[in-house]
Amino acid sequence: MDGNRRVLFARVPRGLPVPEDFGWDTVAVPSPGPGQFLSRTLWLSLDPYLRNVMKGHALYGVALRPGDPMYGETVAQVVESRHPQFEPGEIVVVKNGWQEYALSDGQGVRRVDPALEPVSTALGVLGMPGLTGYAGLVYLGAPRPGQTVLVSAATGPVGSTAGQVARLTGARAVGIAGSDEKCRYAVDELGFEACVNRRAGDLPAAIRRACPDGVDVYFDNAGGEVLGAALANLALHARIVLCGMIEAYGMDTPPAGGPFLGPVVAARATIKGLVVYDHFHRMAEMQKVIGRWIREGEFRYREDVTDGLEQAPAAFCRLMQGDNFGKTLVRVAAAT
Ligand SMILES: NC(=O)c1ccc[n+]([C@@H]2O[C@H](COP(=O)([O-])OP(=O)(O)OC[C@H]3O[C@@H](n4cnc5c(N)ncnc54)[C@H](OP(=O)(O)O)[C@@H]3O)[C@@H](O)[C@H]2O)c1
Repeated sequence: MDGNRRVLFARVPRGLPVPEDFGWDTVAVPSPGPGQFLSRTLWLSLDPYLRNVMKGHALYGVALRPGDPMYGETVAQVVESRHPQFEPGEIVVVKNGWQEYALSDGQGVRRVDPALEPVSTALGVLGMPGLTGYAGLVYLGAPRPGQTVLVSAATGPVGSTAGQVARLTGARAVGIAGSDEKCRYAVDELGFEACVNRRAGDLPAAIRRACPDGVDVYFDNAGGEVLGAALANLALHARIVLCGMIEAYGMDTPPAGGPFLGPVVAARATIKGLVVYDHFHRMAEMQKVIGRWIREGEFRYREDVTDGLEQAPAAFCRLMQGDNFGKTLVRVAAAT
């Protein structure tokens, strides 16, 4: 171990993040004290909420100061342990942040069984984003068979899960995505019945063509204009699951006005806010259901992998521009 390379939080981005919002250093690899273990980061998860963490949003309970290692969830391998429940060699999900090594006291750490799916899936489809799509769709959206479920950011880990769960439970899934290539993937690989390119103009009309009987459940990962276009197409008694507002994550103050809510009244619709932390007790249920669908070939996932910790800032900037295609991951090291 020749040192612990770390990507640091340098400053709060203005608008979309740029690589200069991050710094670098190398420090000594720490040694575990009693009740701690040291783990080596194998995979780093890049998630949109990290942009909100960088501006100090209270929801996440993380206060980053300039010079701190960037925060984030990782899959890591235990290398040295003075913790009674963790053995060297074990693979865990732990919040190491954007660095090669970190200490943990075991709080909130989850073991990963490498014999099941590839361990990277513990950060995507079989981890927090998968749980968000699954629990939000099943418990808040609750579509009935035959109903139309519209999902934005449809090819990302949250949206692709919500859409496929909708399809596999008998609903009609329609996606919204940021390119024709993503839309083709949503239909051909993920089994959405249709997918609308949000950048192709007149989004409300395109949604109307794809959802002629209206939208019974809208699973929103975008906010802003995309949300407004979905609201213009609600069926009677629609449910709207507000999951993410990525359009606003780069804004210093909330957008003035926001989408027109008149259609919510006319449709007698219900709007529900989703925070995945409320559903962590459903992680095992989600992994059982989706794990089985993956093994049966009914459910697909896609990863957007970048190699090397030094590439993490650039990969995060790409994610926040919507240029990722699948779950955004950085491969930091191979397991031994
Ligand atoms: N509520 C919760 O507890 C919870 C938990 C996890 C995630 N989330 C939220 O769920 C959403 C999806 O997360 P994910 O991890 O699956 O990410 P993701 O879909 O892999 O990536 C985000 C996607 O958002 C779209 N996007 C980016 N900028 C946009 C803009 N200005 N306007 C509209 N769309 C834009 C892009 O997709 P297209 O270009 O294809 O549209 C981009 O690929 C995010 O908003 C995230 O914050 C919420």
